[in-house]
Amino acid sequence: MIKNYYHTSVLLQEAVDSLAVSSGKRFIDATLGGAGHTKEILQRGGIVLGIDQDEDALAFVSEQIKNPNLVVALGNFKDIDTIAKENTFEQVDGILFDLGVSSHQFEEGARGFSFQKDANLDMRMGTSLSVKAADLVNGLTKGELMELFTKLGEEPFAKRIAEEIIKAREVKPIETTTELAQIAIKGYPRGFHKIHPATKIFQALRIAVNDELNSLKTALPKAVELLKKNGRLSVISFHSLEDRIVKEFLNECEEKGLGKVVTKKPIVPTEEEIQANARSRSAKLRVFEKI
Ligand SMILES: C[S@@+](CC[C@H](N)C(=O)[O-])C[C@H]1O[C@@H](n2cnc3c(N)ncnc32)[C@H](O)[C@@H]1O
Repeated sequence: MIKNYYHTSVLLQEAVDSLAVSSGKRFIDATLGGAGHTKEILQRGGIVLGIDQDEDALAFVSEQIKNPNLVVALGNFKDIDTIAKENTFEQVDGILFDLGVSSHQFEEGARGFSFQKDANLDMRMGTSLSVKAADLVNGLTKGELMELFTKLGEEPFAKRIAEEIIKAREVKPIETTTELAQIAIKGYPRGFHKIHPATKIFQALRIAVNDELNSLKTALPKAVELLKKNGRLSVISFHSLEDRIVKEFLNECEEKGLGKVVTKKPIVPTEEEIQANARSRSAKLRVFEKI
């Protein structure tokens, strides 16, 4: 049993307000995590299908919340259409995506998401995924590593870090977060880093291992399809790659006459929230209403 699935929900009130919850309405929380948003929806009288690909999250929530208005499902939100059908949650009043990893996944050293915790280079959000970060770090060519770090990490020193990885691999495979973090430091010119030199390549590896951007691109149109008339789609993103996908998709939906973008500018956390929870710093909430 997972005793402590730690996660502070980001934009909690704003996101749940955006879903216009009222008693008896039905919602899908596509990224259940520690169920912070879901608990708030339940409290306001909503009925929720909570999806997560992380077995730990589902085990924790199933143990903690005994509420007949909550159904949970293990799965990837790219299959939101099938999961919704299996649980008779078609035609819902709102769908929430709170993207990325939970604090629990990040802090739980063994999962290899953080370069500050020594662990095997895994980074899978769920065990159904087959490729681990170590497979990419040890298996990709220099060119592929450079492309990965540039495209998914926006890392300016992608080439130098890729070269250091190739050098290290010639001696032995790179197996742990600490080994990779040290290699990233070697790849950085001195005095050039405001943040830890491993930050962006860890982000890139995590996005690749979990195929995060493709899952999002697949899920969004399915989510709009699942909404009732006047149903709301609310998405919280944490970096520009995700936010761009969400913004462009919602604008396209509006152009096609499927509904309207409610947030012409994204909703961002207050200073107080950022002070209390640094992870909220880069969050952006975008909301769409179907017609
Ligand atoms: C930021 S956390 C959500 C936190 C939650 N809103 C709360 O308040 O506790 C993101 C969660 O989404 C899950 N997740 C990310 N991508 C997913 C995907 N493609 N399919 C299913 N779950 C996913 C992660 O496993 C993680 O538990």
